[in-house]
Amino acid sequence: MKVAIIGGTGVYDPSMLKEVQTLTVETPYGQVELSAGAYLGRDVYFLPRHGSGHSVPPHKINYRANISALKELGVCCVVSTSAVGSLNKDMKPGDLVAVDQFIDFTKGRASTFYDGEDGKVVHTDFSEPYCPYLRKLLLEAAKNLGVSMHQKGCYVCTEGPRFETPAEIRMFQYMGGDIVGMTNVPEVVLAGEAGMCYATVAVVTNWAAGISSTRLTHQEVVDSMNDSLDSIRKILFQVIESVEEDRDCNCRRAPDAVEVQEHD
Ligand code: HPA
Repeated sequence: MKVAIIGGTGVYDPSMLKEVQTLTVETPYGQVELSAGAYLGRDVYFLPRHGSGHSVPPHKINYRANISALKELGVCCVVSTSAVGSLNKDMKPGDLVAVDQFIDFTKGRASTFYDGEDGKVVHTDFSEPYCPYLRKLLLEAAKNLGVSMHQKGCYVCTEGPRFETPAEIRMFQYMGGDIVGMTNVPEVVLAGEAGMCYATVAVVTNWAAGISSTRLTHQEVVDSMNDSLDSIRKILFQVIESVEEDRDCNCRRAPDAVEVQEHD
């Protein structure tokens, strides 16, 4: 059983794992460095999304290489963490959210494994963008640990690296967004195309632009994330412990059911 954690801002600590070693994986999209370790008989991979030390900005992350490396390693399940701003008054800084939907406002990112170059046209179903099985495990783990977690939330993904304008945030609110971040798309899309179970626990680090009167800083996001790290680590490890081979979700079937032979 191989499980991966993709850590967002502030979640860079591979000491969460035992017998840690660093691996370099070659993929068609480039090289990926990650940590590998063991936890209760499971192989666990830890991939810091922004590189070690937050060196890659959200719009330059090599999402295809990251997901491709995990696929090559035989990973079946990916749980990611993501720092977000909140546009929903019920989701306050410090709150955790088991994300269930996304709205994509990214531009110009390589966001698919099916870019048509091999003559294949593939449309992957995204009616359930985040794995319902992993989301259930996240919510159960939080409950067992006495940590509150919102049952669902719609993640608006922006291109970044700038934060949003208050007008953009108002638009996202009208559209039904709850939280805003810069990294979940195309990560969730690629994991879906690769047939992996993928879920995100979002950590609300700040009120989105225009909701609070103070200026937004990256330091505020990092500091707030650090306050939640302990709970997040406990939740992640409980999920890793609970994941089973036999999962009642459709994630594995997602990619190949939808290839289009002829297109007009
Ligand atoms: N906007 C976009 N990304 C973020 C935010 C935000 O307010 N907070 C943390 N990541």
